[in-house]
Order: sequence, then C-alpha cells, then structure tokens
Amino acid sequence: MRLSLLILFVFFVNLTLLSSESEIKTIKVSHSLTSEAKKCVECHAKETPGVVFDWKKSRHAHAGVSCIDCHKVNADSPMASQKCEGVKGTDTHISVMVTPKKCQECHPNEVEQFSKSGHFRARKQYLNKKDMNDLIYVHEGRNHPKYKGTSEETGCMQCHGSVIELDKDNRPKKGSWPNAGIGTIWPDGSVGNCKVCHSRHRFSVEEARKPLACASCHLGPDHPDIEIYESSKHGHIFKAEGANWKYDDAPGAWEVGSYRGPTCATCHMAGIGELESTHNVSRRLKWNLWAPRSEVRNSSDPLNPLTGDGRKGRLEMKSVCNNCHSKLHTENYFEQVDDAVTHYNENYYDPALKMYNDLKSKNLLQDDPWSDDFQKKFYFLWHHEGRRARQGSAMAGPDYAHWHGFFELMLDIKELIIMYNERLEKKSH
Ligand code: HEC
Ligand code: HEC
Ligand code: HEC
Ligand code: HEC
Ligand code: HEC
Ligand code: HEC
Ligand code: HEC
Ligand code: HEC
Repeated sequence: MRLSLLILFVFFVNLTLLSSESEIKTIKVSHSLTSEAKKCVECHAKETPGVVFDWKKSRHAHAGVSCIDCHKVNADSPMASQKCEGVKGTDTHISVMVTPKKCQECHPNEVEQFSKSGHFRARKQYLNKKDMNDLIYVHEGRNHPKYKGTSEETGCMQCHGSVIELDKDNRPKKGSWPNAGIGTIWPDGSVGNCKVCHSRHRFSVEEARKPLACASCHLGPDHPDIEIYESSKHGHIFKAEGANWKYDDAPGAWEVGSYRGPTCATCHMAGIGELESTHNVSRRLKWNLWAPRSEVRNSSDPLNPLTGDGRKGRLEMKSVCNNCHSKLHTENYFEQVDDAVTHYNENYYDPALKMYNDLKSKNLLQDDPWSDDFQKKFYFLWHHEGRRARQGSAMAGPDYAHWHGFFELMLDIKELIIMYNERLEKKSH
C-alpha cells in the first residue's frame, strides 16, 4: 500500500515537472479504495459530513489517500482506539489524532524541515520555565484547585500546542485537546501540528499561502505580524487585488506573476526565483526579534533561541526581495532595519536592563513582578513595545515601527528613569 502510494507520489512529482499549470489541476487519478476504506467514507458521509466534504475537495482524495491511510494505527500504538462504530471489535485500530509521524510517511521533507524550525520548539520551550508556569498557574490561574489551568488551555496552548494526555480508551483528554497549537507533543513522540496552516480535511496549499494562515497566532500587542503586514505597502497591494491572485500553482511553480506582492509565506517559506521552498520558518531570519535583546542567529538546534544561521538567512531573505525590487532598494532597506534593531538594543534595552539590575542588587524591586510598576514597565518595554518597533521596522509597517513602537519606547524609558531615581532617593520600592 505504502509503496504504491510512494510510486504514485513520484508519478505526481514527474507530472508536476513536465506539464503546464492548467494540466496539473485537471489530473485525476482513479486509484480505487479498498472496501474497508470505502466504508469509512460512506458511513462518515452521514456521521460527519463536514469532514467528508472537505476531504472530497482535497488533493488527498484525488490521489486516493483516504481516512484509513491517515487514521489507522497499529494495535500496539499508545493512541490505538476502537471507539469509532465502524471499527469496534475488528482488527482495525484508529486514532482521532494524526501526527507529523504519519504525515512523514509520505511527506518526509516537510516534516524534517519543520523539525528544524522555531515552530518545533513552541510547546517544548516553556515546559520547565518557572516564570512562565508561575504566570500561568499562580498569577493568571490564581492557584485555584480546579481552574488554574484554564488560561493555558484556552490561550497559550491554542497557539503553542499542548502535551497530549490520554484517557483509558487512549483518546486525548480535555485540557490537552482539542488544540490548534503549532508545537503539540504527541503520545507517539512526534512534535508539531501540520493542520494549523493546512486546516483539516482540505490540507490545501492554497490556504497556507495566504496571510490568514498565520494570522490566528501572529497578532496582538506582542507580535502584531498580521497587523504590520496589513498596514504595509505589501498588505495594501494584497488587500487591493490579492483575492484574484493564483494560489494553487504546484509548489516550485508559485512565482512572481501568480501574485504581485509577497504574502507571509512568500517571504518566509515559499520557493521563489532561485530559492527552494522550506518548512523551516527560521531559515531566512537574521536576528532574533522576539527576544528581550536581539542577537544574530547562530545555532542549528531548534530548541536554541538563536536557531538559524543569521548571515545566510539574511542573504536568502534579500534574494526574495530582489525578484521585485532593485538591489539598491533591498540593501538600503536592510541597513535601515539593522540600524533600528541596534538602536533598540543599545539605547532602550541595555539602559533599562542596567537600571533593573541596579535596583535588584539594592533590593529595590518587589517580589511579585506583576504588582511592581517598574518591573511591569520593563516587561512592556521589551515584550510589547520593543517587539513592535523591531518587527514593524523589519516588515515595513511604519505605524508599528513608530507610533506603537519607538514612540511608546520613548515614553517607557522616561518613566523607568523617573521610577529608578525615586527608588534610589527614597531607598524603597
Ligand atoms: C491526510 C490525513 C487525513 C485524512 C486523509 C483524513 N484525516 Fe481525519 N484528521 C486528520 C487530522 C490531522 C485531524 C485533526 C486531528 C487533531 O485535531 O488532533 C483529523 C481529524 C478527524 C476527525 C475529528 C474531527 C473533529 O474536529 O473532531 C474525524 C472524525 C476524522 N478526522 C475523520 C476522518 C474521515 C472520516 C476521513 C475520510 C473521509 C478522514 N478523517 C481523512 C487527518 C486526516
Ligand atoms: C458504520 C459507520 C462507521 C464506519 C464504517 C466508520 N466510522 Fe468512524 N465513526 C463512526 C461514528 C458514529 C463515530 C463517532 C462520531 C462522533 O463522535 O460524532 C466515529 C468516530 C470516528 C473518529 C473519531 C474517533 C474518536 O476517538 O472519537 C475517527 C477518526 C473515525 N471515526 C475514523 C474512521 C475510519 C478511519 C474508518 C474506516 C476504517 C471509520 N471511521 C469507519 C462511524 C463509522
Ligand atoms: C499515504 C500517504 C499520505 C499521507 C499519510 C499524507 N499525505 Fe499529504 N499528500 C499525499 C499525496 C499522494 C498528495 C498529492 C500530491 C500531488 O497532488 O501532487 C498529498 C498532498 C498534500 C498536500 C498538498 C495539497 C495541495 O493543495 O496541493 C498537503 C498540504 C498535504 N498533502 C499535507 C499532508 C498532511 C498535513 C498530512 C498528515 C496530517 C498528510 N499530508 C498525510 C500523500 C499523503
Ligand atoms: C498555530 C499558531 C501559529 C501559526 C498558524 C503560525 N505560527 Fe509562526 N509561530 C507560532 C509560535 C507559537 C511561535 C513561537 C515559537 C517559540 O516558542 O519560539 C512562532 C514563531 C514563528 C517565527 C519565528 C521563529 C523563530 O525561530 O524565532 C516565524 C518567522 C513564524 N512563526 C512565521 C510564521 C508564518 C510565516 C506563518 C504562516 C505561514 C506562521 N508562522 C503560522 C505560532 C504559529
Ligand atoms: C495568539 C497566540 C499566542 C498565545 C495565546 C500565546 N503565544 Fe506565546 N508566542 C506566540 C507567537 C506567534 C510567538 C512568536 C513571536 C515572534 O517570533 O516574534 C510567541 C512567543 C512566545 C515566547 C518566546 C519564544 C521562545 O522560544 O521563548 C514565549 C516564551 C511564549 N510565547 C510563551 C507563551 C505563554 C507561556 C503563553 C500563555 C501564558 C503564550 N505564549 C500565549 C503566540 C502566542
Ligand atoms: C506555518 C505554516 C505551515 C505549516 C505549519 C505547515 N505547512 Fe505545509 N506548506 C505551507 C506553505 C506556505 C506551503 C507552500 C510552499 C510553497 O509555495 O513553496 C506548504 C506546502 C506543503 C506541501 C506541498 C509541497 C509539495 O512539494 O508538494 C506539503 C506536502 C506540505 N506543505 C505538508 C506539510 C506537513 C506534512 C506539515 C507538518 C509537518 C506542514 N506542511 C506544516 C505552510 C505550512
Ligand atoms: C516582504 C517580506 C515579508 C513579509 C511579507 C512578511 N515578513 Fe515576516 N519578516 C520579514 C523580515 C525581513 C523579517 C526580519 C528578519 C531578520 O531577522 O532579519 C521578518 C520577521 C518576522 C518575524 C520575527 C521573527 C523573530 O525573530 O522574532 C515573524 C514572527 C514574522 N516575520 C512573521 C510574519 C508573518 C506572520 C507575516 C504575515 C502576516 C510576515 N512575517 C510577512 C519579511 C517578511
Ligand atoms: C512579489 C513582488 C515583491 C516582493 C517579493 C517584495 N516586494 Fe516589496 N513591494 C512590491 C511592490 C509591488 C511594492 C509597491 C511599490 C510602490 O510603492 O509603488 C512594494 C513596496 C515595498 C516597500 C515600500 C516602499 C516602496 O518602495 O514602495 C518596501 C519597503 C518593500 N517593498 C520592501 C520589500 C522587502 C524588504 C522585500 C523582501 C524581504 C520585498 N519588499 C519583497 C513587491 C514586492
């Protein structure tokens, strides 16, 4: 079965290379489903018609990849369950969870690239961080015996992912599932969540190439990437005419001409010009812009906050721009970006940190950071305002670079200086 699909897959790739775009879209492979596989579709067309409708419209359905190919697991899998009516009492075990390990059987490159990216780290990175867990359970959860995990379940987890916990039937438990987070850690040991950009059961490339695929997570006061994009010149062009661009070209063939301006996927993931497409979103980055102080990336470990090769990443990102802009435009632009990041580092973050460390050494900070005006302001300086200034500058969103960014940073640092001097003078917090 797997071998035949692999052959089918190779067959498709060849067609992609040989045929013109319009031919690719009309290809249908009559790969007949086994009678067991057909039963899943037929019964679920009544039980969960939304699922079957989406699947029918997918490339998977065209290629003969059906319910059983993704949901079947070995009887000894930690996720093996028979709660589905159709498999009860048979030799077939299924799981409602379809993990990257399963996708990897047919899409090894995408899973490998994803596993080297900052997305891979999303849930793992705060598993054992005391300050994060204090924020979630002690402060937001107010240490409540029953409800202390709710802000994580309804918030963090829906973007970052969860550690799946199983019930006695090997099905995922409340509090860990459902979740639409990107770095979920599954019972089979695999990490990640492919459905966050390619929602189930369409699993469409078209959807993932549009900015909305990133927008449910990359928004808000601390990383307003969708807002920055929408208010940039690129976003203006996308909003003016993006509805008419072509998003369903074969991977490798989605090039300038199918669109007139870049989406998030164009700059961070897609193949364009000489560049190959990648599922490693850290690959084209130079700086680490979410960190308190930005440094140039220099690690191959996805769990390292500096994952990526900043020098190479910048060259790749520049080559994206050069498809539509002159080299002069691109070079001048990135000098401005680097100056803005350095200005933030040296003239906002460093002096704020110096004051923080000084107050700390003199015992002039309160124990609870969330009750202490100095510590709250310091947090906002790097986590909200500072990220907006840096990300706004890097993605050409002037309102975020300035009014939500440097302007507010300027107010923050002045307030921090006033509070710092008062505490030194009064010798109390
Ligand atoms: C390409 C792999 C793939 C195929 C093919 C596939 N599924 Fe799924 N299915 C998934 C993924 C991924 C999820 C989401 C699991 C999660 O949220 O953890 C899912 C979720 C589900 C769910 C739970 C949905 C919910 O929101 O509660 C059902 C039911 C389901 N699939 C049935 C089917 C049926 C029936 C078919 C065939 C028509 C099918 N699947 C085909 C991958 C697949
Ligand atoms: C005779 C009807 C029938 C057949 C055949 C059938 N299912 Fe189901 N399945 C159901 C029903 C009913 C449910 C429960 C639906 C619900 O929770 O709303 C279910 C649930 C599921 C779920 C969710 C599992 C869970 O733990 O809640 C998945 C995934 C699933 N089926 C996949 C499959 C696959 C794959 C096949 C083929 C091997 C299949 N089904 C065959 C009726 C069927
Ligand atoms: C049994 C093999 C198999 C499994 C398992 C599988 N796929 Fe696929 N997938 C395919 C084939 C075959 C195609 C069609 C390739 C083509 O059309 O050229 C495809 C196409 C795709 C596409 C491109 C769709 C488009 O619009 O062009 C995406 C995205 C995708 N799969 C995601 C997934 C994800 C996510 C999973 C796991 C949840 C998964 N696949 C599991 C075989 C598989
Ligand atoms: C389901 C939520 C979700 C979606 C959808 C999502 N991301 Fe992310 N992304 C995250 C989280 C969470 C992080 C932070 C990971 C961490 O903990 O370091 C992140 C980090 C990143 C980073 C920085 C990686 C690093 O090494 O610092 C980039 C770039 C990125 N995402 C781009 C994208 C793009 C482009 C899209 C859409 C095509 C997208 N993301 C879709 C949640 C998401
Ligand atoms: C709306 C989606 C969303 C929610 C909710 C969310 N985050 Fe994030 N988080 C992100 C994104 C996106 C990034 C990446 C920002 C970037 O690359 O600039 C991120 C970055 C981070 C980082 C820095 C990255 C790293 O590797 O250290 C930490 C830590 C973090 N989040 C923890 C949390 C915790 C803990 C919660 C809940 C208390 C939470 N987040 C809630 C989307 C979210
Ligand atoms: C952050 C968003 C995002 C996530 C998460 C994501 N993808 Fe994709 N995927 C994309 C984009 C964007 C493209 C189109 C790239 C291009 O145009 O070059 C794509 C393309 C694909 C394709 C078609 C490529 C081809 O050569 O046929 C497959 C298959 C695929 N993804 C599978 C996966 C799998 C498996 C996972 C989970 C490991 C996954 N994706 C997770 C955004 C995402
Ligand atoms: C015109 C190309 C372009 C577009 C479009 C674009 N970005 Fe970016 N993005 C960049 C550049 C350049 C950087 C800074 C890279 C560096 O570090 O030098 C960046 C940085 C980021 C970061 C910060 C990573 C970190 O280190 O904290 C995230 C997250 C991100 N982008 C997500 C998105 C999302 C989501 C979208 C769409 C809403 C998007 N980008 C649209 C070019 C783009
Ligand atoms: C698919 C083509 C395309 C790509 C790729 C692209 N841009 Fe653009 N960009 C445009 C178009 C079109 C405009 C609007 C030009 C105008 O204002 O007339 C624009 C406008 C801009 C502007 C606003 C200033 C100006 O000249 O109008 C900046 C800054 C910019 N782009 C930077 C970048 C950077 C940096 C990259 C790469 C990270 C990039 N662009 C990638 C097409 C593109």
